[in-house]
Amino acid sequence: MPRIDQYIITHSMKQVSFINLRSKLPFLLLALMLTFSAAVYAQDEAAEESVEDTSGADIAAGEALFKANCAACHRLDRKSVGPELRGVGQKFDRDWLYKWIQNSQALVRAGDPLAVRLFEEHNRMIMTPFPGLSETDIDNILAYTDQPKAEPQAAATDAAAAASGAGGGAQGGVSNTILLGALALIFLLLVIMLFLVYNTLRRIAVAKGIHVEEEKEKRTPIWKAFIQNQFLVIVTSIVLLFAASYFAFGYLMQIGVDQGYQPVQPIHYSHKIHAGDNGIDCNFCHSGARQGKTAGIPSLNVCMNCHMSISEVSEETATAEYSKEFYDGEIAKLYEAVGWDPNEMAYTKDPKPVKRVRIHNLPDFAYFNHAQHVAVGGVACQTCHGEVEQMEVMEQHATLTMGWCIDCHRETNVALGTNEYYAKIHEELSKKYGVETLTVAEMGGMECAKCHY
Ligand code: HEC
Ligand code: HEC
Ligand code: HEC
Ligand code: HEC
Ligand code: HEC
Ligand code: HEC
Repeated sequence: MPRIDQYIITHSMKQVSFINLRSKLPFLLLALMLTFSAAVYAQDEAAEESVEDTSGADIAAGEALFKANCAACHRLDRKSVGPELRGVGQKFDRDWLYKWIQNSQALVRAGDPLAVRLFEEHNRMIMTPFPGLSETDIDNILAYTDQPKAEPQAAATDAAAAASGAGGGAQGGVSNTILLGALALIFLLLVIMLFLVYNTLRRIAVAKGIHVEEEKEKRTPIWKAFIQNQFLVIVTSIVLLFAASYFAFGYLMQIGVDQGYQPVQPIHYSHKIHAGDNGIDCNFCHSGARQGKTAGIPSLNVCMNCHMSISEVSEETATAEYSKEFYDGEIAKLYEAVGWDPNEMAYTKDPKPVKRVRIHNLPDFAYFNHAQHVAVGGVACQTCHGEVEQMEVMEQHATLTMGWCIDCHRETNVALGTNEYYAKIHEELSKKYGVETLTVAEMGGMECAKCHY
């Protein structure tokens, strides 16, 4: 079998016998695909290792400044109060960084889009201004934060492998998609290039008057050659199947599951401060939960019961993450929304509607009733909503999938003893099932129509 590079050009016979390039294309492509993905991957890793050093900066001085001023809120490689800072000097424009670090809130107030975005993304936490830091100081700090991570090679690779193996966060998914897209583009270019080379070679051969004798099989078009090669077909099918099911599964499992959903609300409201530290009962604001289907979100008038007189928070309430100024600003927003003037102690302006972002949300075809669970079933709010009194920012604790409802119905016993209504049913059903306890499922909590209209 001749190889591609073994063109036997016999000028005396004015004849060229060369292997059919097209029939070998699939092999070529597969080989190239592997080489390229390996190369791109290696490049990726290498890029992670080498972070450019800002020349002329004093790293030791930067480290001291960082520890004195920034370490309270920032770490190099892990999110703390603020985001992790390694490599941040490469991430943003230097002049912008000077302004941000000297006074980030001034930038936010001036409406700088990047500053506003960062501020919003971090739940409107306020970074301390550092007007005393000169641009050289900041250069030094950034030289320190931009040092490459000094870790053994093996550990770094392990971490990378673990991150990609676990399916990663959203970022891993995105970079994978970009990588795949880039590879696909490279292959396309290669295919086009190969065909161009092939045609040029032919044209040269024809121009030189060389008779190009193609082997019989070489007239088979590429797709036919591909189909005839069973091994390639099987390998490709398997690869495609894996890729397709990986993406399809990942996509389907995400649909409608918003566990951990934690939107930024127009007025920051802390369950930790109200329901936790100040011990306000859930019922005070979500009275619907005991009486009916929905728990309900309190209207701002409910807030004003207390906030007519509470216009600022005490120093103890403020934390490193959330300053007193921040909290007072949020109460001011509440006043703005209801049209209250704290100086006049009267409603002087028109109220402005505030759009809260709904967090928990079942699809319309599913029926869920709070009173059934809270009042009749005696299930605590925290069983389904998590430790709400610890939440500075409300988030969706459970998955709210059908599996979640059903699992609990299978495992939870109906509180028979405390409920007269069940006393009679209990006698019958406990005989039927021969058990002393009765799960929600046995009582009918698995019937489709109970949860679906
Ligand atoms: C009181 C806490 C606090 C201190 C102290 C602090 N920061 Fe920040 N920093 C934050 C927060 C919070 C953010 C996120 C943006 C926001 O909410 O305004 C942030 C964001 C940043 C960002 C943007 C990073 C990104 O990836 O989005 C940089 C850069 C930064 N800080 C640098 C510094 C430097 C340098 C110092 C020390 C001189 C410092 N910070 C001190 C809280 C702080
Ligand atoms: C002083 C009023 C108040 C009290 C007390 C209170 N909440 Fe809330 N709750 C709110 C407000 C306002 C919201 C709107 C979302 C936000 O701003 O975080 C909310 C939102 C919620 C949500 C999410 C609503 C959604 O959109 O899906 C849940 C769940 C919740 N509260 C549970 C509780 C539980 C459990 C308790 C008792 C431990 C409690 N709340 C006590 C005012 C209150
Ligand atoms: C039963 C009284 C009461 C009700 C009702 C109440 N609050 Fe508060 N609120 C407080 C107290 C007490 C504090 C903390 C004051 C302190 O730290 O000294 C506070 C603090 C706050 C703060 C600053 C801390 C934070 O959570 O961001 C905001 C904003 C706030 N409340 C908004 C609201 C809103 C919005 C509502 C209506 C959904 C509401 N409050 C209902 C008593 C109440
Ligand atoms: C058995 C689980 C369960 C328990 C217990 C439970 N909830 Fe809920 N809660 C849900 C589900 C599911 C939703 C979403 C309902 C929807 O979208 O129709 C929800 C939604 C909410 C909402 C926002 C939407 C609405 O219904 O107004 C609030 C507020 C809320 N719950 C508060 C409470 C409070 C307060 C308690 C305790 C008194 C409580 N919940 C107990 C499961 C539960
Ligand atoms: C934490 C456990 C738990 C979760 C989660 C839960 N339930 Fe329930 N559910 C119960 C209990 C306990 C009862 C029995 C109440 C009673 O005594 O009647 C019940 C009863 C019901 C009933 C009445 C059944 C009957 O036979 O009358 C319906 C309908 C229902 N749940 C729907 C749902 C839906 C929809 C979800 C999910 C969104 C859900 N439940 C999630 C515990 C749970
Ligand atoms: C305990 C309550 C409950 C029971 C019983 C129940 N479902 Fe569901 N079902 C739900 C909830 C809640 C959802 C919405 C889940 C989501 O949004 O992810 C749902 C979603 C669905 C969906 C949409 C696909 C999906 O998973 O999102 C189908 C189809 C469905 N149910 C069929 C059924 C059938 C058929 C039965 C009877 C064998 C049944 N359900 C019994 C609560 C229940």
